[in-house]
Amino acid sequence: MRKRIKEIIEQGVGTAPCSFSGWVRSVRSAKEICFIILNDGSNVDGIQVVADSTVPDFTQICRVGTGAALTVSGTLVESPASGQKMELMARTIEIIGHSDASYPLQKKRHTFEYLRTISHLRPRTNTFGAVFRLRSRLAQAIHRFFSEHNFLYVNTPLITASDCEGAGELFRVTTLDAADPPILAGKPDFNQDFFGQKTGLTVSGQLEGELFALAFGDIYTFGPTFRAENSNTARHASEFWMIEPEMAFATLADNADLAEEFIKYLCRFALDECGDEMAFFDKHIENGLCERIAKVAEADFARMEYSEAIERLQDSGVTFAYPVEWGLDLQTEHERYITEQIVGGPTFILNYPKDIKAFYMRQNNDGRTVAAMDLLVPKIGEIIGGSQREERLDRLESRMVEMGIAQDSLWWYLDSRRWGSCPHAGFGLGFERLVMYLSGMENIRDVIPFPRTPRHCEF
Ligand code: 4AD
Ligand code: MG
Repeated sequence: MRKRIKEIIEQGVGTAPCSFSGWVRSVRSAKEICFIILNDGSNVDGIQVVADSTVPDFTQICRVGTGAALTVSGTLVESPASGQKMELMARTIEIIGHSDASYPLQKKRHTFEYLRTISHLRPRTNTFGAVFRLRSRLAQAIHRFFSEHNFLYVNTPLITASDCEGAGELFRVTTLDAADPPILAGKPDFNQDFFGQKTGLTVSGQLEGELFALAFGDIYTFGPTFRAENSNTARHASEFWMIEPEMAFATLADNADLAEEFIKYLCRFALDECGDEMAFFDKHIENGLCERIAKVAEADFARMEYSEAIERLQDSGVTFAYPVEWGLDLQTEHERYITEQIVGGPTFILNYPKDIKAFYMRQNNDGRTVAAMDLLVPKIGEIIGGSQREERLDRLESRMVEMGIAQDSLWWYLDSRRWGSCPHAGFGLGFERLVMYLSGMENIRDVIPFPRTPRHCEF
């Protein structure tokens, strides 16, 4: 297999001649010598290639454009100059794919806004290289964490007939002709649709995940999630990835314990195993990032009742844009104030009013709250949302009636409470929010390869 630049550098100086391929980040040439920074996506810095006039086609190589694809062979030597430990003395350089002055990434620095307009090219920049390497490694770390804890990985369906969160944010999946659907009693007749009923893209794999938890004990899902939520913020995407663990025989406290251990594991992983990328983010994206993440890896996450959070916000003397009142949901400004100003670190908010939460959450004895939890972190606000589930059939049914949720389409969910029901709990971690949190990147569009947001779906 082809050797990657990262591997060649790890092997160190003094090894046999080597060969690798990559793309030109910059070229500097003098009369008899030419320096090319080549990057193959495997590390932050790429490698400096040094060519002198003994290299065949030397003059042509000096004129190679930024962005061109090259295959280089030579030997790795210690670099006499500062800036890099090692460099590659080239013996031959082959131009595989040309580039020219019209290549948009000539300049060293572009704004993230501009780079979003060329998301087909931005993976070739240092920042997006680091972001997507971190994202890839984190995905692997997430599977590793759950594998070490004996959780079953389950793939829940992307096309579904149920709106788990009940927020009406399903993208419709249909093969009916939108301009001329079959009509029955004045409405589109979904009986004639592909699945013989109304279907959409999933907003969460939780309900199906629960069914597996009630068979395998501990499970998790990790997959794409879709929400037709018309909120154009730096933290919402219409298509995002979510990790949803679900544990049988578990309470809300167990759920928070798992979430805390999970987040700390991922913080440590980023620092220990993505050190170069984290150092890059610390230097270029958020000064002090590594220290912030190291602190979180050691911290005890705070746990605060929703009612207390409301009181503390009301007592803060701060004027918020959105009202603060028992019974209302917390907005991002409130969440950030709690985790940044009141606590100064990750904070679980527990036991929310039942009227602002989904039907499946376990009803508390006070009659007005449910066993919900959100994990709030500085800079982001909510990164995790979860709950203990209502495992009592009668309570679940009466709550569905109260909320006007049709029971016939969720007969299978109710069945799970009929036989062998048990206390169980789980949560959802937004994968992109995690990547933002660990990298310091401030817009969700910059941690998704090809983001989908309202009125934006290119590629
Ligand atoms: O709080 P949410 O809506 O919870 C659920 O979907 C539950 N079914 C999870 C569970 O208990 N299994 O979403 C969970 C997390 C949020 O905390 C947030 O990090 C992320 O998913 N999230 C989004 N990320 C990006 N864009 C969006 N539009 C998001 N909506 C939620
Ligand atoms: Mg939520």
